[in-house]
Amino acid sequence: MNLELSKDYQKSSLHTIAPYVGKLRTDVVQYLIEKYSDENTTIFDPFCGSGTVPLESWILGRKTLGIDLNYYAYVISKAKLFPYPNFDVAKKQLDLYYNIVKRNNIDVNISGIPNWIQDFFHPDTLCEIVTWTNALMQNNDYFILACLLGILHHQRPGFLSYPSSHGAPYLRNNKYPKSEFPEMYEYRNVYDRLLKKVERTYKFIPKVDFSCEREILNINALDIKNTTHNITIITSPPYMKSLTYARDNRMRLWFLGCSDWEGLDQKISMGKEAFSELMDGCFCKWSNMQKKESYCIVVVGDILFDKARNKSIPDMICDTASKFSYATVDVLDYPVNQDRKVVKSESKIKTEKICIFQRR
Ligand SMILES: C[S@@+](CC[C@H](N)C(=O)[O-])C[C@H]1O[C@@H](n2cnc3c(N)ncnc32)[C@H](O)[C@@H]1O
Repeated sequence: MNLELSKDYQKSSLHTIAPYVGKLRTDVVQYLIEKYSDENTTIFDPFCGSGTVPLESWILGRKTLGIDLNYYAYVISKAKLFPYPNFDVAKKQLDLYYNIVKRNNIDVNISGIPNWIQDFFHPDTLCEIVTWTNALMQNNDYFILACLLGILHHQRPGFLSYPSSHGAPYLRNNKYPKSEFPEMYEYRNVYDRLLKKVERTYKFIPKVDFSCEREILNINALDIKNTTHNITIITSPPYMKSLTYARDNRMRLWFLGCSDWEGLDQKISMGKEAFSELMDGCFCKWSNMQKKESYCIVVVGDILFDKARNKSIPDMICDTASKFSYATVDVLDYPVNQDRKVVKSESKIKTEKICIFQRR
């Protein structure tokens, strides 16, 4: 059955703070939260990525917990869930950092930075980015840090790199050669661009309750401690290496101090066997955490999991759920989000399935 959304849903500009692959559609998430939880429910997303589910949960007045093993995903989710209360406060903070950066910028030596990073930036811009990153990381300022990572690379004037793509980092110096586009290779002032980025991020933020409980953890989904609250799970796990969360974000991860993106992708962008084991472990955990009648919603691509048995990933998820006392309430189809592109040509997904389970 197709998912039918009966009303218009608004999208907060906080969602655009920084790019991430495989994001869920915000309207679908709002619909699911409203339908399968109430104000007394905690919404738990064990694979929260860029924080779509936790942010929508907070906006809708639910307590929320998100987990992601990718440190970049953690930073964006923290930023979305813990922004400054308004633009004026954020700007004041930005100005304080600007003074620190002006003092410390001269001490930066970029010669030790890998060449593949240096290739993307004017040396003076790179010095500034490093100084800003150091100051923001020392202060755990996830909000401004995520804004900075959000303008790291692209070809537009509001971004910091030489001409390059925005999703994954690829230089576009063939399309925009320096000889023809010298202005694209000039020094770029970080403060001016960061200020505009912060302004854009505050363009539309619905009224939110800053006292509402919310948390994001950078741990393995399997390491969540058992709790027995009134929990609804809404999540979209990684499946069958369909997206490379660390590879696509390798530049942003490098600035966050994580240079081994290949090692990280082995953990978070797994193959068939590892995915099946992860789902087994998760449903086992979740069945101990959730009260009877609670909902658990898993969004996955509609692709083959087991050719020999003609089983799709959603079929496999439904089988796993039933092993751990979950009944399948519904399985809905919806067209894949533009952002949720797959890297493997053989696994091109057109639709995703929203598998809705209830703990028995
Ligand atoms: C499909 S994405 C989630 C996207 C998210 N719903 C959004 O809207 O941005 C899956 C996420 O699972 C994370 N992940 C993979 N394995 C994990 C694990 N074992 N524990 C926690 N997170 C994991 C990946 O880093 C990735 O961000």
